[in-house]
Amino acid sequence: MLGVSVAASWEHPAVGAQELRTERLRLTRPVASDSAGVFAILGDARTVEHNPSDRLEDLGDAAELVDRWVRHWDEHGFGYWCVRDSGSDRIIGYAGVKRMLIHGRPVLNLVYRFVPEMWGRGFATEAAAAVVARVVDQLPGETIVARVRPGNRPSRHVALKAGLQRDPTMDCQGEDGFDWAFTSPEIR
Ligand SMILES: CC(C)(COP(=O)(O)OP(=O)(O)OC[C@H]1O[C@@H](n2cnc3c(N)ncnc32)[C@H](O)[C@@H]1OP(=O)(O)O)[C@@H](O)C(=O)NCCC(=O)NCCS
Repeated sequence: MLGVSVAASWEHPAVGAQELRTERLRLTRPVASDSAGVFAILGDARTVEHNPSDRLEDLGDAAELVDRWVRHWDEHGFGYWCVRDSGSDRIIGYAGVKRMLIHGRPVLNLVYRFVPEMWGRGFATEAAAAVVARVVDQLPGETIVARVRPGNRPSRHVALKAGLQRDPTMDCQGEDGFDWAFTSPEIR
């Protein structure tokens, strides 16, 4: 079982830890200086193969994106975390949830994305499981939904191993095509 602990105090009533730690990873609330690390992920064609609309063209785009992540945290008290190997300052991925509507229903959309050199080591599963555990614990009434392009086998596996289950009732059209939904058990 992966260890998840809160490593900093809560700043927002009822919601997310500023920092999460797992056995191997440190997840931190994003700040503006994380833009270059985020660009290293989303400027790489391999990480957006299944979701090309997410690709960033330059550092300016990355700064704008991180600013949106920061504002989501300011507004909701949770959002996306930047993920680092515990022993390093390098950002190797990001994972978290953001508010959105699917079929008119308010949900927390779970995302995870890592630099290709780190794939296959269980990092996405470890980070996603930590995020899901935190949300289920702190926001028990919320529905978590991972939207996955059907051909994205690694992402499907991460969703399942993070504790979500396939839920065709929440399938929907996404920015890059039809997405399969995986949801937290509370809504079934
Ligand atoms: C999806 C993604 C986050 C998985 O990251 P990861 O750290 O490699 O994931 P894990 O190591 O936890 O492995 C998850 C599963 O993917 C499989 N996998 C990992 N890399 C793989 C590869 N290159 N080819 C095929 N399967 C792969 C693993 O075998 C594992 O499945 P299993 O445990 O059932 O065997 C990563 O591939 C990625 O960032 N992809 C681009 C972004 C993306 O598609 N994100 C999801 C949509 S938001």
